[in-house]
Amino acid sequence: MEKETIVSGIQPTGALHVGGYLGAIRNWVELQDEYRGRCYFFTADYHAMNEPETFANCATYRTELGAELLAAGLDPKKITLFHQKDVPEVTELCWMFDTVVPVTFLERMTQFKDKSERAKTVNAGLLNYPVLQAADILIYGGDRVPVGEDQIQHVELTRDIARFWNNRFGQTFAEPKPLLTKTARVMSLNFPERKMSKSIPGSAVFLADSPDEIRAKVRKAVTASSAEDSMPAGVANLFELFAEFGPAEEVEKFQKQYADRSIRYSELKDAVADHLIAYFAPFRARREELLRHPNEIEKVFQQGAKRARAKAQETMQIVRKKIGF
Ligand code: AMP
Ligand code: TRP
Repeated sequence: MEKETIVSGIQPTGALHVGGYLGAIRNWVELQDEYRGRCYFFTADYHAMNEPETFANCATYRTELGAELLAAGLDPKKITLFHQKDVPEVTELCWMFDTVVPVTFLERMTQFKDKSERAKTVNAGLLNYPVLQAADILIYGGDRVPVGEDQIQHVELTRDIARFWNNRFGQTFAEPKPLLTKTARVMSLNFPERKMSKSIPGSAVFLADSPDEIRAKVRKAVTASSAEDSMPAGVANLFELFAEFGPAEEVEKFQKQYADRSIRYSELKDAVADHLIAYFAPFRARREELLRHPNEIEKVFQQGAKRARAKAQETMQIVRKKIGF
């Protein structure tokens, strides 16, 4: 059997944070060896258009995210790394998918419900967001989609869309599956009931944060909870981060202290901050170095776009033939 194809994207809407890193990017880096030559990873520029305020800085974010993806360990010799905007064929496929997907399927997406509740005007792009995502995945023949938990629903919808399409136009697309990490949902430091996110100030540790910034944010992490008998969500989140970035013996020591109630959260926070700071030190240095030559970053992405576009055009030829264009 032919090896599976891996596809995933990340929006250039701000810096990479520990949530996106643990939920997705670290997985991308691990997959690139096993699936060498079969991974398509991109910055989701068209998706980012949905939020006009952050989109105003899209060009800067795109370059920074490019540097961050490379600094995190992605190797363009092993994968196809590109900007979504350089493969406009996905928007054509998105339109075609729009003609087979019921609106009710889109209206029940959690992310759509959350965002449309908060938006003053609900643009069609917000509703269509996951249809474009389906086009992203299926245009490269994606079988596995490494994402965080918040994106599972969109991958499931991609399966529905593939099925609707195949039923109407004949077998064209395989149904992809999400590929989760063990920490697929990292919570906010300051609102531990919500996922860590770029849009909640103080909620995220960014990989590029300075040691002082990291320490200040972790020290402010919320550890209190109203429920007495179970571990507070904020403490559980700190332990998750600790387990990812610190040595097991040290984590166990704090867990024992938690169990016998001798734990001091200030010490737990300092330990977590120390390990975060040390773990991302090489990342920060590589990122800075890469950002000294933004043209080189762009070149890498343009080379990737050539390969991605060739594959997308190949798929679109098949698709057009299927529908009789
Ligand atoms: P975004 O930055 O929203 O484009 O997300 C990029 C990737 O990171 C997606 O695969 C998300 O599922 C994942 N991700 C974002 N935030 C988190 C989080 N707090 N915990 C786990 N994964 C996340
Ligand atoms: N919607 C994803 C997010 O916000 C980003 C994305 C766009 C994506 N297209 C994709 C992820 C295709 C996986 C596959 O995180």
